Amino acid sequence: MLKGKKILLAVSGGIAVYKAVALTSKLTQAGAEVKVMMTEHATEFVTPLTFQAMSRNPVYTDTFDEKDPAKIAHIDLADWADMVVIAPATANVLGKVANGMADDMVTTTLLATQAQVYVAPAMNVHMYQHPAVVQNMKTLETWGYRFIEPGDGYLACGYVGKGRLEEPEEIVQVIDRDYHRLGRWQGKKVLITAGPTREPLDPVRYFTNYSSGKMGYAFAQEAAEQGAKVYLVSGPTNLTVPPSVEHIPVSSTEEMFAQVTALYDQVDIVIKTAAVADYRPVETSEQKIKKNKDHITIELEKNVDILRYLGEHKERQYLIGFAAETEDLEAYGRKKLQEKNLDAIVINDVSRSDIGFDSDQNEVVLITKAGNTWPIEQASKSAIAEQVIELIDREIGKG
Ligand code: PMT
Repeated sequence: MLKGKKILLAVSGGIAVYKAVALTSKLTQAGAEVKVMMTEHATEFVTPLTFQAMSRNPVYTDTFDEKDPAKIAHIDLADWADMVVIAPATANVLGKVANGMADDMVTTTLLATQAQVYVAPAMNVHMYQHPAVVQNMKTLETWGYRFIEPGDGYLACGYVGKGRLEEPEEIVQVIDRDYHRLGRWQGKKVLITAGPTREPLDPVRYFTNYSSGKMGYAFAQEAAEQGAKVYLVSGPTNLTVPPSVEHIPVSSTEEMFAQVTALYDQVDIVIKTAAVADYRPVETSEQKIKKNKDHITIELEKNVDILRYLGEHKERQYLIGFAAETEDLEAYGRKKLQEKNLDAIVINDVSRSDIGFDSDQNEVVLITKAGNTWPIEQASKSAIAEQVIELIDREIGKG
């Protein structure tokens, strides 16, 4: 699938430069057009001529070595690329880019490009764990850079640990899979609900549940990375809103209902991961309730079922509900799918502590209206979101 793609390979100076030669070869074999730029230090390990021979293109090492007077090389390269791969990415090059420095061919081009950037780090295990490097990688990640983690093993410096440049075959596979994921939902508007709702009893107390919002935020991040315009209607969480996602904070179910229904007409897809409180206190005291009785009774009334309302008023939207179950998962899930007029339902077992509420992982079964059932194995919530979106996209594609 990389056939015809213009890939700019940025090579920085570490012992793993020799693997970047194999990477150049693999990328050209996959049908990509590859251009290579190298830091001065990278040229100490392997000559530019080697990359020139593998890529069949001139290699760029010096910002001031303008090969064509009609163009400014680093801007031209930055605009030319469909994607940029930094491999190996040293701690130095990561630090420079994360801090906006541009003092050579590689870093000026990296700052100038608007293409998707993939980063395959390679360095000593202790450098990889250094807080400065960790912070720089986080910064780059929040700007949309995609990381291909280094492998574990024997390092050239003599240590054994994480820091070895991922194998060229694996880098090619990762970027191939990932690049085609990006942009899949370009032009789509997606409404995601996440987190818990809070139903106030008095100014200091409320009813809620254990939802952390992690599942919903993972969907928001994934949908945004796939090019969608994402509206994230979220109950209170401690999470950071993913880049380019429109965050609409709410607290109670009524507030969530108001925001969701206001957006409903505009969106193409709805993913309802929020753990909405089914009941709320009939009365909310304006003053703090005093603890002068041994027992109190609080009367609760049913909240609006937002998802059911959306199912009843569905026009062109593709509506995905969640089912939080503790027994007979699929049977209860199917019932909700049908009763709430959904297009698909994602069922998870919330009796387990390793998945579901507040966990970093989940394991789900996706069932569609057409009757297709896909169990998705335990994985990070991001990986679950990615797989669900891929399957849903296929379903939508079938029309
Ligand atoms: O937030 P995390 O800690 O990451 O946990 C994720 C999760 C466990 C909350 C999530 O994976 C999940 O299961 N979300 C649905 C929780 C839920 O309310 O399930 P339910 O089976 O009670 O409701 C079914 C569906 O109806 C849900 O899509 C829910 O959003 C919706 N609903 C429910 C009640 C209500 N009054 N209005 C609704 O819209």
